[in-house]
Amino acid sequence: MDDKLIVRDGYNAIAAKYLTNRSEESEDVQLLQELVDRLPKGAKVLDAGCGAGVPVAKYLNQFFDVTGVDFAEKQIHLARQLVPGAHFLCQDIIQLTLAESSFDAVCSYYAIIHIPRQEHKTLLLNFHRMLKPSGLMLLCMGADDLEKDIHDYHGTRMYWSHYDAETNLNMVKECGFDILWSRVVADSTSPGASHLFVLAQKDCA
Ligand SMILES: C[S@@+](CC[C@H](N)C(=O)[O-])C[C@H]1O[C@@H](n2cnc3c(N)ncnc32)[C@H](O)[C@@H]1O
Repeated sequence: MDDKLIVRDGYNAIAAKYLTNRSEESEDVQLLQELVDRLPKGAKVLDAGCGAGVPVAKYLNQFFDVTGVDFAEKQIHLARQLVPGAHFLCQDIIQLTLAESSFDAVCSYYAIIHIPRQEHKTLLLNFHRMLKPSGLMLLCMGADDLEKDIHDYHGTRMYWSHYDAETNLNMVKECGFDILWSRVVADSTSPGASHLFVLAQKDCA
C-alpha cells in the first residue's frame, strides 16, 4: 500500500482514539504560547496536519484566525465539530496552493514525521512561500534518522519517515528561515518517543 494511504487510512481509523490520548497540558501544547507571545491577536495561522483540532487548533483559535488542514476526512469532521471557530480543509499538506504571503505563522505538530522525508524540503519551501515576511514557523520534526518505518500504532498500521535533528535544522535554514530555538520534547501519545520542536522565522536577517 502507498505510504500516504497508510497514514490517511490509519488516522481515519484511530481519529477518536488518538484524540482521547492527546493531552491539552503537555509540554508541546505549552510551546504554542511562544506564538501567542509573538503575534498580534487575530493573526492568521495555518495548522498543517491539524488532526481533530484538539489541542493545537483549539488553543490557537483563542487568539488567532486559524486554518487547519488534514487529509484524513474523519479528523477534519471532528475538527469542524470541536473547533467551530476555525476553518478546516481536507487536503494533503504537500499540495497546498494557498496564497503567497498569506499567513503570519505556520504550526505543524506530529504530521511531518508521517510524510516521506524526501518531500520535507518541498513542504518547508511551500511554508516559506505562504508565510508573510518575518512570519513564524513552529514545527515538530524528527529527532533521529529514520528513512522509513511501519508499525502498529494505537491498533492501526502507521508509517514514519524523518531525518535527524541536525539535518532537519540545516534544512530549515536552507529553506530561508532563521532558527529562534529548537528542543527535543517527549511525545505524550507514544511512550519513549521524542521529537524535535523548532521555532523559526522567515527572512528576519
Ligand atoms: C499524529 S496526528 C497529529 C494531529 C495534531 N497535529 C495534533 O497535534 O494532535 C498527525 C496528523 O497529520 C495528518 N497528516 C499526516 N500526513 C499528512 C499529509 N501529507 N497531509 C495532510 N495531513 C497529514 C494525519 O492525518 C493526522 O491527522
